[in-house]
Amino acid sequence: MSDPQQRRILLARQPSGPLSADDFLLDTTPVPDPGPGQTLCRNLLLSIDPAARAWMSGPTYRDQLEVGEVIAGYTLAEVVRSDVDELAPGTIVATQGGWQEYALVDTTTLRPISGRGSLEDRVSVLGVTGLTAYFGLVRVGRPEAGQTVVVSAAAGATGSVVGQLARTLGCRVVGVCGSRAKADFLRDELHFDAVVDHHTDDLRAALAAACPDGVDVYFDNVAGRVLTSVLPLMNTHGVIVSCGSVSAYDGEQPASLRALPGLIVTRRLRMEGFLVHDFEDEWEQGEEFLAAELESGRLTSVHDVYDGLERAPEALIDLLAGGNIGKRLVRIASEEG
Ligand SMILES: NC(=O)c1ccc[n+]([C@@H]2O[C@H](COP(=O)([O-])OP(=O)(O)OC[C@H]3O[C@@H](n4cnc5c(N)ncnc54)[C@H](OP(=O)(O)O)[C@@H]3O)[C@@H](O)[C@H]2O)c1
Repeated sequence: MSDPQQRRILLARQPSGPLSADDFLLDTTPVPDPGPGQTLCRNLLLSIDPAARAWMSGPTYRDQLEVGEVIAGYTLAEVVRSDVDELAPGTIVATQGGWQEYALVDTTTLRPISGRGSLEDRVSVLGVTGLTAYFGLVRVGRPEAGQTVVVSAAAGATGSVVGQLARTLGCRVVGVCGSRAKADFLRDELHFDAVVDHHTDDLRAALAAACPDGVDVYFDNVAGRVLTSVLPLMNTHGVIVSCGSVSAYDGEQPASLRALPGLIVTRRLRMEGFLVHDFEDEWEQGEEFLAAELESGRLTSVHDVYDGLERAPEALIDLLAGGNIGKRLVRIASEEG
């Protein structure tokens, strides 16, 4: 009898400029056997993260993705085989399973996940996305009630959670996004106080009109033109939370930050980058908080799901072009199947 096979998606070539379908290769290979200390996981849901594009261009907080490698990515998976009693077959785990149907994972890295929320919630608002928003806003940004918080990529996975959490803290929340549909969603469904489209010709003027009292905390998911437009509006002792720089991931030229050093001094700004992994010791407490917010109805979980591993390249290309509302996921398999 032939070995069971699985599908996986590899980096076909080093991309230059905006990603295209030709940068990916769908491949078939035998399902691997776990060795000592390894667990075989079956990926169910794949998180589509803009950082995957940055990983293809050079080293970041992880090594560069090389041609021929499986595209890296967070997954929610079920255990198929493990030599550890706590990881019985069918146990749901959060892992870095990559763009493939099955993954061999170092058993010591497997993170038990709570049973709260849906599977989609557990890889989004109760997973790395929600934790990024929570720790970035609460621990790095530290906004106070009554202050103005601006968040970019506001209708995306991280931004939509940041904005909602800032509202519950009593802040005035201004979202920056890239379409009319997203603006309507943020205003009507998530109750943002104001929304600005970053394609607007005079972005700085539009932001100034939306932030009559200036900006106290800017949660920056995109850098580029949005960052340079928010900068002059920062209040004294304002905070810029540098979470990511999507505008630069897919080949766009970085915007000039000539005004930044002067403004940091005169306005006594704090600009601080962070990685969600900096807070790994506190993730459990963060998950508790987010689950309580979700259950209370104060936090809305928004997913944008594609079906089928083969659609992962399209899902990432479309996300980088701003096609998603909420957390972009790819369903690779169902729990029962
Ligand atoms: N620091 C950490 O530990 C950490 C962890 C996770 C994620 N991140 C970062 O968080 C950010 C958001 O990630 P996510 O997963 O939540 O993605 P996301 O916001 O759901 O999707 C990315 C969004 O970026 C926007 N965008 C794309 N190009 C843009 C441009 N040139 N200018 C302005 N906006 C642009 C698009 O929305 P529009 O339609 O609004 O343009 C798109 O929907 C990323 O920078 C990511 O790398 C950081």
